[in-house]
Amino acid sequence: MEASQNLQTPPKFINDDSVSQECENLISSLHSEKDSTGKTLYNYQGSWYYPNTVQAILNFQKHFRARDNDIILASFPKSGTTWLKALTFAVVHRNKYATNLVSHPLLSDNPHNLVRFLEADLYVNNQRPDLEELPSPRLFATHMPFQTLHDSLRDSPCKVVYVCRDIKDVLVSRWHFISKLVKKELNCNYPLEETFEKFIKGAYSFGPFQDQVLSYFKESLVNSNPVLFMRYEEMIEKPEAQVMRLADFLGCSFTEEEKQSGTVEKILELCSLGNLSNLEVNKMGTSTCGIAHQAFFRKGGVGDWKNHLTDDMARKLDEMVKKKLEGSGLKFE
Ligand code: A3P
Repeated sequence: MEASQNLQTPPKFINDDSVSQECENLISSLHSEKDSTGKTLYNYQGSWYYPNTVQAILNFQKHFRARDNDIILASFPKSGTTWLKALTFAVVHRNKYATNLVSHPLLSDNPHNLVRFLEADLYVNNQRPDLEELPSPRLFATHMPFQTLHDSLRDSPCKVVYVCRDIKDVLVSRWHFISKLVKKELNCNYPLEETFEKFIKGAYSFGPFQDQVLSYFKESLVNSNPVLFMRYEEMIEKPEAQVMRLADFLGCSFTEEEKQSGTVEKILELCSLGNLSNLEVNKMGTSTCGIAHQAFFRKGGVGDWKNHLTDDMARKLDEMVKKKLEGSGLKFE
């Protein structure tokens, strides 16, 4: 199938609105908003979701129990999730798979299939996905805020890695991403102003951005579950240092010998945007969460918002985030 054809398929978390009676009862009591295509979003535990995702979250909250050595990668969509998935997979499994750029699973599969989303993939239309057979440490990903994840992790010291990115680049990245989907599905354009208005109002899937970031930042200070708080911009600026920080946190620090022999650099090269986006597997095909592999790779880097947002839009977004984060110790400069 052509990669461009794959973009016609909406993601799993939007696609199918078949929900249980229990979920139906729940969502009828929740605050709701229409998105730009007329689909309804519901606010569950402080974040906005399509009905399918609410159902998946209920499935997850009822049935998922973390193992002590599970690793959960959390992020707001478009914050560098794909990169974090690839890096974590490569770091954790570096003794199992050679990082010699010949036979590594990341060369033949998309990062989203190797580290699957809980609420946007595994638990969609599946009350109890079989996760027991997965080898330890199991790697999962989520776009849920910490408070929604929390109960399922409570009895386990499993680790959470959160990656965040400047809201302005997140917004522009999301606009490009949704534009591709909407253009193919509905054959119409998706104005940037609409994404901007959604971000200012807060009602968009997995939003509001600033509430989610704060939920993980607070947790990274409290430490009831170990949370490593990472920033996309720091990963771009100092990738070696950030990958070593990730490995330290996950309890698999790089040895001196590995550092000397260039293992860190090999992992970074393997997981680089240039390398991943040029692989055949990522130019075609659809991930298990229902999104074309190619849609996860675009330009990358820091500051693309300057090419799209007006100064006034940028100021409003910065002010909104600053207001939410006031007093927390977290700042986006
Ligand atoms: P842009 O749209 O700004 O280019 P997510 O993975 O959370 O969906 O985020 C997607 C963003 O991360 C996109 O940003 C994409 O280009 C960028 N990205 C994807 N893979 C990357 C990688 N290996 N290294 C750096 N950035 C990457």
